[in-house]
Amino acid sequence: MAGEAGRATVRSLGEVSEEPGRMAEDVRAGLLGVPKDLSPWPKYFYDAEGSEIFEEITALPEYYQTRTELSILQAKAGELIARTDSRELIELGSGSSSKTGALLNAMLEAGDAVSYVPFDVSESAVKGSAERLREEYPKMEISGFVGDFDHSLERLLDHPRKDGSGRLVIFLGGTVGNFTPERRREFLGRLRGGLESGDYLLVGLDLVKDASVLEAAYDDAAGVTARFNKNLLHVLNRKLGGEFDPDLFAHRATFNPEESRVEMWLDSKVTQEVPVKSLGLEVPFDKGEGMRTEISTKFTRESIASTFDETGLRMLDLYTDDKDLFGLALGEPA
Ligand code: SAH
Ligand code: AVI
Repeated sequence: MAGEAGRATVRSLGEVSEEPGRMAEDVRAGLLGVPKDLSPWPKYFYDAEGSEIFEEITALPEYYQTRTELSILQAKAGELIARTDSRELIELGSGSSSKTGALLNAMLEAGDAVSYVPFDVSESAVKGSAERLREEYPKMEISGFVGDFDHSLERLLDHPRKDGSGRLVIFLGGTVGNFTPERRREFLGRLRGGLESGDYLLVGLDLVKDASVLEAAYDDAAGVTARFNKNLLHVLNRKLGGEFDPDLFAHRATFNPEESRVEMWLDSKVTQEVPVKSLGLEVPFDKGEGMRTEISTKFTRESIASTFDETGLRMLDLYTDDKDLFGLALGEPA
């Protein structure tokens, strides 16, 4: 499975062919719920178009997360690599791998034999970043995998280890906050199961802050996040024979303090029935009725430590920026 030095390989972990049936089941459950709720399945946002719109989001003035996380990585990469002594970097939900260079540079400064394993459900994202990084780092071994961490995390972590050094598994961007608490525990528990002594985990988490700052980050003035949200309707139309008209839905983002999360919704502007052919459904919407599409949990130092604790991980450090906007939690198997 490993790629060769100076070469980038991208492989599928195989479960993608089962995807249409799974997606139909997930979306059916989401559309029949009260309220309608597609947020348990954030992966459906990331078709090629959704991945591109997400990249636009990362450059928005309101979306502080990406630049803040990058600044923490740039400041702490040397320390992190010295501390973990890892020669293999596995990145979950790697997207465009735009922040990973900070860690890769620090690893390369510590020696040549470095391998990078990006893993994402978006084939276009893994291929694009593997190709770019191959040119940027000709000596590095890059083994990309396209797959779904809901189903193939274990297969990913099963790939042969490099001798003599541990792994650093990174999960950046705050994506872990897109999981419900139950799925987050389940996911981190499974991840913990694939780590050995000497391995480390670095997780990016968005921190609790003023609701107006949080809401602006998910409802930007240029309307890019609204486009990202509505792209989910295009995905449902294309993959499941839906007839959602994105113009008949309004994007909304609100901070829910009880659950400590921003929620994205699509509110129906009219009373309507939307056919979804592959599900055999006519989905009724009242005027003003909302469908939740995404949750994005915001954490405190305490909630991060207890999340790690509950899943058999020991939190070693929480690296933050000077305004405490974003955190990078370093952990190891307890
Ligand atoms: N880590 C990048 C991208 C974050 S966007 C950053 O910090 O900017 C979230 C990424 O997770 C997307 O690239 C999306 O395709 C990926 N993703 C979401 N659900 C996934 C799943 N179930 N399996 C694998 N990748 C997933
Ligand atoms: C990928 N994830 C961490 C982003 C977030 O902030 O929750 C997805 C996103 N949704 C809207 N804007 C960005």
